[in-house]
Amino acid sequence: MDKIVVLDFGSQYSHLICRRIREFSVYAELVPYDISYEKLQKLNPKGIIFSGGPSSVYNSNAPVPENKIFEMNLPLLGICYGHQLIVNKYGGKVKRANKEYGSSLLTIDNDKDLLNGIGESVRAWMSHGDEAEKIPPGFQVIGHTEGAKAAAIASIDKLIYGIQFHPEVVHTEQGTEILKNFVLKVCRANQDWTMEAFIDTAVEKISKIEGNVLCGVSGGIDSTVVALLIHKAIGDRLKCVFVNNGLLRLDEEKEIEEMFKDNFKVDFTSIDATDQFLGKLKGVEDPEKKRMIVGEEFIHVFTEFAEKNGPFKWLAQGTLYPDVIESGVSKGPASVIKSHHNVGGLPDWLNLEILEPLRELYKDEVRKIAKILAVPEKLFMRHPFPGPGLAVRIIGEVTPTKLKIAKIASKIVENELLEANLYDKVWQAYAAVGDDRAVGVVGDERRYGNIVMIRVVDSIDAMTADWTRLSHGLLEKMSNRITNEIEDVTWVTYTISSKPPATIEPQ
Ligand code: XMP
Repeated sequence: MDKIVVLDFGSQYSHLICRRIREFSVYAELVPYDISYEKLQKLNPKGIIFSGGPSSVYNSNAPVPENKIFEMNLPLLGICYGHQLIVNKYGGKVKRANKEYGSSLLTIDNDKDLLNGIGESVRAWMSHGDEAEKIPPGFQVIGHTEGAKAAAIASIDKLIYGIQFHPEVVHTEQGTEILKNFVLKVCRANQDWTMEAFIDTAVEKISKIEGNVLCGVSGGIDSTVVALLIHKAIGDRLKCVFVNNGLLRLDEEKEIEEMFKDNFKVDFTSIDATDQFLGKLKGVEDPEKKRMIVGEEFIHVFTEFAEKNGPFKWLAQGTLYPDVIESGVSKGPASVIKSHHNVGGLPDWLNLEILEPLRELYKDEVRKIAKILAVPEKLFMRHPFPGPGLAVRIIGEVTPTKLKIAKIASKIVENELLEANLYDKVWQAYAAVGDDRAVGVVGDERRYGNIVMIRVVDSIDAMTADWTRLSHGLLEKMSNRITNEIEDVTWVTYTISSKPPATIEPQ
């Protein structure tokens, strides 16, 4: 498989460079900027990209790659800070300039290779404080902006390019075309990164492992795809466990069980631990305590299963590429360090090795695999659902009545959105419930019932979110159905707080 390696100098967009390249079916991998020459050689890339980064090449501790990397004679593209590194390295001069942020008009001076086919000028996204004052000998300017005379440079015989702007962000028009020109025309990489090819390779690799594999499945897309890939490779040496903690969406446990048993034919055990979880949650109001209890109970149930049904050699997890990068395994100078462990906390004595077949993939790539493996669309179009489930959507103690309300009311919200063709357009949608109650009248009777809060939000990555402007008609329909169909509910409200300052979940 042809590969492009992106050296990460700490830009918040480094990640996106890989994504964009993979979108046109070439494998791209992000590595720390200080990767050793030997390691990089082993990766055998068709070309190298230097990402942007917050540093200035003049800083005493400015990140620089190993010298030998420049001598590999591979096609090289520097973006922003990477561009300045190239200018500096090959004998040009970088100077401090007026900061240029946002969109600038890039005029193309030479459209022969990197900037081929993108027109005479495009809007390009800039974010820099330094600029190339003098370009290195043997280089030529192939594009400029009003603020940066050498916004794009090239040494056409050495196949080295530098661009001051970010082609990987959507605000740069034709950015993908520029990356395509580099990857396909300059590096001559083959477009052989397809999810069909990934499945074949993954299945072949997994089929070589010995021993049994334990896989916790939640019904979510990542663990489902992990289970299916491993099952394709080793059949019933894979044991899947699904723990019903009683905090799932209405009838979700039945749907998941049916899907695994009927569609996938994997060795699947469903453990109904509802009483165990709800018993431990009885009387607990504190949100963090509830989260902790759910996590701990899950580990108990899982460990008990492993003890009884083992020995297992492997534990399969649905770790994705962004998790790997965030955990610092592949870390650039500015990357966030956050440790991820999907089924963290299993006792050491279980002695399990970790199997993570999706650790090279982005979420959209996992979705493509799910499609190929015939995972029902209904499953992978589902909104994200928090690990502690309804324990975080029920404010205060989790009681049977509040559970029933949260389940049915959420189902109504989901169904009405589906009916209105809006389900896929929003990020998450549910109904929460707490202990507040309000008076209602039903027939001639006064009734004191619970207040339900409908929460529907738009978001791209859950870091920020805005409440969805649903029509009054749709909200009215949801409210009517909730009060008519759940007799414990008298009032329905719509939450109109965005994140920040609120969060998506109430607890
Ligand atoms: P908040 O409520 O922090 O949620 O705005 C952001 C996203 O994370 C999900 N979420 C969780 N997921 N365990 C999870 O696995 C949790 O404890 C948890 N809390 C929130 C939430 O559904 C939203 O998508």
